[in-house]
Amino acid sequence: MKTVFPKDFLWGGATSAHQIEGAYLEDGKLPCTADTLLQGFRDRFGKGYQKIDPEKYYPSHQASDFYHHYKEDIRLLHEMGLKCFRMSIAWTRIFPKGDEDEPNEKGLLFYDNVFDELLKYGIEPIVTITHYETPLHLAREYGGWRNRKLIDFYENYCQTIFTRYKNKVKYWMNFNEINTNLLLPDFGAGFHVERNDQQRNQQIYQASHHMFVASAKANYLCHKIIPNSQIGMMLAGMQSYPATCQPNDVWETIKHKNDSLFFSDVMMRGEYPFYTENLFKKLGVELRIAPGDLELMSKNPCDYLAFSYYMSNVITADEEKLTIVGNLSRGTVNPFLETSDWGWQLDPIGLKNYMVELYERYHKPLFIVENGLGAKDELVKNDGIWTVIDDYRIDYLERHIIQMKEAMEYGVELMGYTPWGCIDLISASGGQISKRYGFIYVDLDDDGIGSFNRYKKKSFEWYKQVIKTNGENLL
Ligand code: BG6
Repeated sequence: MKTVFPKDFLWGGATSAHQIEGAYLEDGKLPCTADTLLQGFRDRFGKGYQKIDPEKYYPSHQASDFYHHYKEDIRLLHEMGLKCFRMSIAWTRIFPKGDEDEPNEKGLLFYDNVFDELLKYGIEPIVTITHYETPLHLAREYGGWRNRKLIDFYENYCQTIFTRYKNKVKYWMNFNEINTNLLLPDFGAGFHVERNDQQRNQQIYQASHHMFVASAKANYLCHKIIPNSQIGMMLAGMQSYPATCQPNDVWETIKHKNDSLFFSDVMMRGEYPFYTENLFKKLGVELRIAPGDLELMSKNPCDYLAFSYYMSNVITADEEKLTIVGNLSRGTVNPFLETSDWGWQLDPIGLKNYMVELYERYHKPLFIVENGLGAKDELVKNDGIWTVIDDYRIDYLERHIIQMKEAMEYGVELMGYTPWGCIDLISASGGQISKRYGFIYVDLDDDGIGSFNRYKKKSFEWYKQVIKTNGENLL
């Protein structure tokens, strides 16, 4: 049967270290910024991040305990037929404080073992270099990415992992959802700045510039050290519509989109976009650019554009109507869409539209590295076997894959698809595990109690079928 998906299409699943591994102080690891959070980013971060209170339960400290279950988990991923697995390396396992000269051998060894296990089953590792996991020491002592010194620390980290894993990992991504710096630099950029701080824009764009330079250095090193490697950027993907066809709403939407795509414009094209000067003037930003930065960036753009996609939002010129809070975004109600239990407006067709827009803008391959439905699951006994009947999840994914196919039929080049949280993990926004995305259920509750046993959900068999038929059999 003819299929739009190429033979080597990367069907997979996605995770991040702090949301799945646990073992947050094991084998020399030290805390990262996410380890200070009790309830995800609903917590107020505060300057210097919160002090870790040993009496309290921090979800990332044990997470789904992938650190001790990785063999069993990867065996299950293999059973599902996954072609690839997106994961991140915890920077703090390799450089626990972030500014050391020498890496932590035990941390390196852990990922050697994970990659070997994946490769044993022919599963391609897709590695995010850092996924909201800045070493806490770098955040507290250096002020996070506001400090140019982080470029050197990141470079040393990249040099170390590229050299160590050059025979195991071909696909890399530098920073997870880098455009979320705008809303929440606490997460990816390792610093906190109040919303009404006069210096907020200056700090955010300066930190982002440092990350752009670091990314260009990483791209250069990756290609030099690992022949045939590909390194992408990663965007929090969002389709935005104007609330009405009133030209002011349309203009607000264009600006809103450009705020977010500013990051991919720089990283995919290697230069600041045409609207930068105007934007910075309005925001009072005066970027400090060191000699050589712009040349380095222009010579080392990213190879592909990876993005997450969960929902869309609606933009209006009327500030007061911006009431809905979704995945790191604000918008107004779209009467044509359903919302998830967490208030996210679900929009499969928006995925197709967004893919076409991105491809049109950059003409480089896309990679959907996150998509999925966060939902409350119930473990039940079916024919004597514990499972979750998650038809709602199957329905969500199926509707998105259909649109993904249509975008590909239209001509968009897509490398792969890795639904988020293929094994249940800790939610980034809320710190709960009860907001589940996985095909594999992990027995753990929001207070950290559970056996950590793994159970296959109904969607497990469904996804297995999708992969086996290379996307042809969705029902
Ligand atoms: C993305 C992040 O924003 O969305 C993930 O890259 C996150 O880390 C995912 O988990 C889903 O969001 P949440 O808040 O439901 O976990």
